[in-house]
Amino acid sequence: MHILSFTDFEGMVEELFGLAERIKAGEQRGDALRNRSLAMIFEKASTRTRVSFEVAMTQLGGHAIYLSPKEMQMGRGESIADTARTLSRYVDAVLIRARRHGDVVEFARHAEVPVINGLTELEHPCQALSDFFTMRELRGELRGLKLAYVGDGNNVCHSLMLGSAMLGMSFCCATPEGYEPKREVLQRALEIAKETGASIEMVHSPEQAVSGADFIYTDVWVSMGQEEEAEERIRRFRRFQVNEELLSHAPDARVMHCLPAKRGLEITDEVLDGRASVVWQQAENRLHVQKAILLKLLA
Ligand code: CP
Ligand code: NVA
Repeated sequence: MHILSFTDFEGMVEELFGLAERIKAGEQRGDALRNRSLAMIFEKASTRTRVSFEVAMTQLGGHAIYLSPKEMQMGRGESIADTARTLSRYVDAVLIRARRHGDVVEFARHAEVPVINGLTELEHPCQALSDFFTMRELRGELRGLKLAYVGDGNNVCHSLMLGSAMLGMSFCCATPEGYEPKREVLQRALEIAKETGASIEMVHSPEQAVSGADFIYTDVWVSMGQEEEAEERIRRFRRFQVNEELLSHAPDARVMHCLPAKRGLEITDEVLDGRASVVWQQAENRLHVQKAILLKLLA
């Protein structure tokens, strides 16, 4: 079983939430993953994903190995397929943060152990699962809650949109024109929403998106790998900043951000450090939820 897209959590979201809840309450044995190893390939920078997965493995009695393609034979031309076949003979699962989603799919095709997407340009499924866990902690039942996503229709947005569709939530996404989520991901979310009763809406007005929202979510305007577009993006996204003024349109909403944040761009200091922000709870929950994912895949 691989976790490449949020849709790969189909049929196990509630179980993972329950498991994460028990883990957070301290009810998990510390040796459940004894002698288990996780290889973690990071082609891009990471603070939260790397540290939370590594600590998760340690606290469950297992071991994590951090690998950078620059220092692997893959960096000298060994194929993804051969790397996948080899690592499958040593470790019990592989976490990959890659520049190209297709590379993770290719890796999974040749791996004989579970492969977990630790962020690609297309999706960030473990982040989104953990964020829904945080929303559930704060509000209980997720069905019917409104999640407003303001900013770039990026990887995090894609996973949140698919998750909202699966969980029967109301997802409203406000982006500048030309920065909407990918059409095929939106299509998939709409198909799922038809079955679950979720609502998925795309707008270009941040005020419209946040109106009536239970949660307001934002992410960086310039994702890893888009550095060359930074100037243009910052100009185009200005109106999409999550600030006190925008919050005044949704006085009861909690504010979420996957982090790292570019303070003063997509979110102001006032909001990130303010009363409505739940970003540290969000960051902490990565650890608990990823432990649940690891136990589900490896125990
Ligand atoms: N939110 C997240 O994935 O953070 P890192 O890039 O620090 O892993
Ligand atoms: N959208 C951001 C998320 C970082 C966790 C990026 O891809 O850089």
